[in-house]
Amino acid sequence: MKKYHAAMNRIYLLVIVVAIFTGCQKNSNTSPSSANSQVDGRVDSVLALMTLEEKIGQLTLFTSDYDVTGPTIRENYKDDIKAGKVGAIFNAFGADYTRKLQEIAVKETRLHIPLLFGYDVIHGHRTIFPIPLGESCSWDLNVMQQSARIAAEEASAEGLHWTFAPMCDIARDPRWGRMAEGAGEDTYLGSRIAEARVKGFQGEGIGALNSVLACVKHFAAYGAVQAGRDYHTTDMSDRVLREVYLPPYKAAIDAGAATVMTSFNELDGIPATGNKYLMTDILRKEWNFTGFVVTDYTSIMELLPHGIAEDTASAAALALEAGVDMDMQAGFYNDALEKLVKEGKLKEGLIDEAVRRILRKKFELGLFDDPYRYSNVEREKSTVMKKEFLDAARDGARKSIVLLKNEKQVLPLSKSIKRIAVIGPLADARREMIGSWSAAGDWTKAVTLLEGIKAAVTPSTQVLYARGCNINDDTTTYFSQAIQTAKQADVVVLAVGEAALMTGEAASRTALDLPGVQQKLVEEIQKTGKPVVVVLSNGRPLTINWINDNIPAIVETWFLGTQAGHAIADVLFGDYNPSGKLTVTFPRSVGQVPIYYSMKNTGRPMDANNKYTSKYLDESNEPLYPFGYGLSYTTFTYGDISLSSPQITQQDELKVSCKVTNTGKRAGEEVVQLYIHDLVGSVTRPVKELKNFQKIMLQPGESKEITFTLTQHDLSFYRKDMSFGVEPGKFEVYIGGDSRDLKKGIFILQ
Ligand code: GLC
Repeated sequence: MKKYHAAMNRIYLLVIVVAIFTGCQKNSNTSPSSANSQVDGRVDSVLALMTLEEKIGQLTLFTSDYDVTGPTIRENYKDDIKAGKVGAIFNAFGADYTRKLQEIAVKETRLHIPLLFGYDVIHGHRTIFPIPLGESCSWDLNVMQQSARIAAEEASAEGLHWTFAPMCDIARDPRWGRMAEGAGEDTYLGSRIAEARVKGFQGEGIGALNSVLACVKHFAAYGAVQAGRDYHTTDMSDRVLREVYLPPYKAAIDAGAATVMTSFNELDGIPATGNKYLMTDILRKEWNFTGFVVTDYTSIMELLPHGIAEDTASAAALALEAGVDMDMQAGFYNDALEKLVKEGKLKEGLIDEAVRRILRKKFELGLFDDPYRYSNVEREKSTVMKKEFLDAARDGARKSIVLLKNEKQVLPLSKSIKRIAVIGPLADARREMIGSWSAAGDWTKAVTLLEGIKAAVTPSTQVLYARGCNINDDTTTYFSQAIQTAKQADVVVLAVGEAALMTGEAASRTALDLPGVQQKLVEEIQKTGKPVVVVLSNGRPLTINWINDNIPAIVETWFLGTQAGHAIADVLFGDYNPSGKLTVTFPRSVGQVPIYYSMKNTGRPMDANNKYTSKYLDESNEPLYPFGYGLSYTTFTYGDISLSSPQITQQDELKVSCKVTNTGKRAGEEVVQLYIHDLVGSVTRPVKELKNFQKIMLQPGESKEITFTLTQHDLSFYRKDMSFGVEPGKFEVYIGGDSRDLKKGIFILQ
């Protein structure tokens, strides 16, 4: 019998080789469309050889494990791979280790179909960049595309084919820890950032040796979980879904994203993983998405506790029929699909379509031509954490920093200051610097704030250090030493914030205050009377009202990655003039949440002199810091807005201009923002909507005329009948350096 199998294997191998050979021969000089049809031909040639069990195996994704030396594979998974019951592995990385796993699939399975290797390369792979929320505050699309590009360079050099990024979830509730992973609260900005990140990951295209498949997640509207509690219910009108939450996912797909990941949440009563409206009607029929859809971690199994499926078989059937191609870690496709097909309860054609989508990506990646092409130890050694990547990480980190306050020009500090005290639980917190979802990033290589400051100052400067307290407990025993240290210094840099894993997945908070006793530490240090600069390391907006009222200088640094300490020091000592702007609103109180700039006006807009208007008894409606806000070491002024016409038809575009001047003493970058307000519509419209921005550099005294073009698409929305388009009427148009202090113009759309 063994001889029979060996002979059959050789025949199958020959058939595969022929299929591959004929495909790549024709592939070499064909146009994209015929290249696609060539790939389809090769896919079908493999599909025709597959048993039902082998087909279902391609729809199964299992995790690798870890031990102290790095990723490991469970023995039973090796058996599953050999049995052709696994098509992809995630959390496995490293040229050598992925090669070993690939050899099992290619040499020990009947059809030698290569594995796909995926991983959460969210903000860097080995060289870690700022957390995505932090990086979004750079408003620099080139920076964000480059960091994704470098992540793909490193990941693909370590055997990875696929990253589970970009996360495109609009988030307006800072209680939700996963706000840290996205691009903030705004639909327009989130869409542009999603595009940039997909282009970075996929580079010159799938199949390029330094590119990886992007994965648009978490589809859809996961950022709208009720009460900011992770995995909670989301529920909204189709209008809000399409106007606020869907555009960034669509932008990512329009940018060519190869895959999509379903979200954990339900939407309108149906969990995304079983939601045909999302996965087929919108994603495939409206958006023409042709890649494959993978679930989030065990989310097919979670259809049971959601209460939408009563057993494995019904959950698997619901997901597959909704349009989900690959089952991450639940094993429900493996367990149930074969029987469902054999009982005639599921069409094998559905499985074939899912297998095609997955095999197509494996062909496009070149894995059938050379399954080991990404698992090259020499390339890995020469690629990972090279100096140019570290330099890019430092540059991107500096640009992500937001200067929130700088009274009496406390900043920038002098490098030759006599004594500087660096105090606080985030001052020398190496692990925290690379934030959550830091993939294979080696935190031991991260530069702390203390190290960054020591490296920046002159040899004559004495740098003092005190921890002061822990991040999140009530220990105050270190206070006295911190106070003594502060008293010895000429200036205090006070590093407070959150632990890295207080944000990210399963990290919701009901309070937005500094954790533990950090606020008490700040107050004690402030009592010393020394000039204090607060440096924040956090993954969400914090209600730092007291600090804002009592501390002269505040720098928001998020979690800046491998080069954090150097980047913060570059800003503190003025080697880089901070240019970041907030992409999420900072509330004054968690009681204001959700709070975001593009709110509706309501029928009773706030009037301080009228009790019966929309406001609180115990808090202002205003945020602590608004969307788009950030200071510089220089100042900028905005001239009046000029319009190409006071009115336009529905065929016209409108030019909107404003002169921006650097009125300070040093060069600086400004993010010039353009907003509109459609005053009257068949449905109510937000009081402001970001429609464009430009990040510009101005020398001291220099002015630039900044011009934007408003298109009909910019003025369009989902009207009362849910058609997308414009309506005639009066518009306000705004230009400024944040969403609050703006110059206004008015025009009529006829
Ligand atoms: C997690 C996350 C998702 C991640 C996946 C694989 O639960 O929700 O963002 O990509 O599992 O790690």
